[in-house]
Amino acid sequence: IKRIAVLTSGGDAPGMNAAIRAVVRTATYHGIEVVGVRRGFQGLHQGDLRLLGPRDVANIIQRGGTMLLTARSHTWRSAEGRAEGARHLREWHVDALVVIGGDGSFHGAHFLQKEHGIRVVGLPGTIDNDLYGTDHTIGYFTAVETALDAVDKLRDTAASHERIFVIEVMGRHAGHIALDVAVAGGAEEVFLPEDEKSVDDLMDVIRESQAKGKASSVIIVAEGYPGGGQGIANAITEHTGIDTRLTVLGHIQRGGSPVSSDRVLASRLGQGAVEALMAGKSNIMIGRTGGGLTYVPFEETWEKRKDVSRALYKCAKILSI
Ligand code: F6P
Repeated sequence: IKRIAVLTSGGDAPGMNAAIRAVVRTATYHGIEVVGVRRGFQGLHQGDLRLLGPRDVANIIQRGGTMLLTARSHTWRSAEGRAEGARHLREWHVDALVVIGGDGSFHGAHFLQKEHGIRVVGLPGTIDNDLYGTDHTIGYFTAVETALDAVDKLRDTAASHERIFVIEVMGRHAGHIALDVAVAGGAEEVFLPEDEKSVDDLMDVIRESQAKGKASSVIIVAEGYPGGGQGIANAITEHTGIDTRLTVLGHIQRGGSPVSSDRVLASRLGQGAVEALMAGKSNIMIGRTGGGLTYVPFEETWEKRKDVSRALYKCAKILSI
């Protein structure tokens, strides 16, 4: 391999910059040139490419967002769009591509390989931690810290006013962020898309909590839970009349300087991506489980579902007694 390209795609995640830096520097270390593609697959379609050297990625390891910019590309969904992108890669004499993103981005990469024979590897870059084959995704740790910081602050107000606070966190269709935040934030209850509950169950929780003498409660709801935080808050008000407030944390969870675990994960995976390409691997995501690197076929990352930790879910229940 003489030249590889790298892009970030889909929602930004803290640590994407650390991953770009690791790709560029590992490639340079091995005598491979790197081309950065701006705005993900949209930029690839438009031919927005430029050479990146090790100094171009200095002073970015601590920054949130992505220096390469990102987009959720519509043009990429058409075969013509992908052909155009492949043409740009050939024009730039690119031998292989590293895609940093979530499962939507891996779909795009998979098609590029399938239709145009371009070698691709993916790095899991999403705050949602919803990719099968890796214990954690780049950005997840930081998102949890950011959400937890907000939960701690909201708890002060919940306690002072003896209110119920419903806090909605991101995660798309998965409850990983919600569960970690609930345990670390000492939440009274957590609602995950992985375990739907009835309104009766919810009311039991509230009644039990009151019977135990809890004057305030923090309830964490994953955005993917049917009805979201608004649905839970409405149900509580409707059935109990208790003073309830809803806070939707939203995109604040995607920004900010990555915590050390995200920087370390991104660095290790970025190095792993380049060395996997050098070893002839393709059409895979590089993940990390139990401290070691994993090479997961793209299809598995979206066909198999990564469940939340049932043991941790039970822990959340026990500790909210
Ligand atoms: O995948 C990351 C994520 O932040 C999800 O948690 C959320 O559902 C979604 O992206 C929001 O997407 P957008 O930034 O396009 O509104």
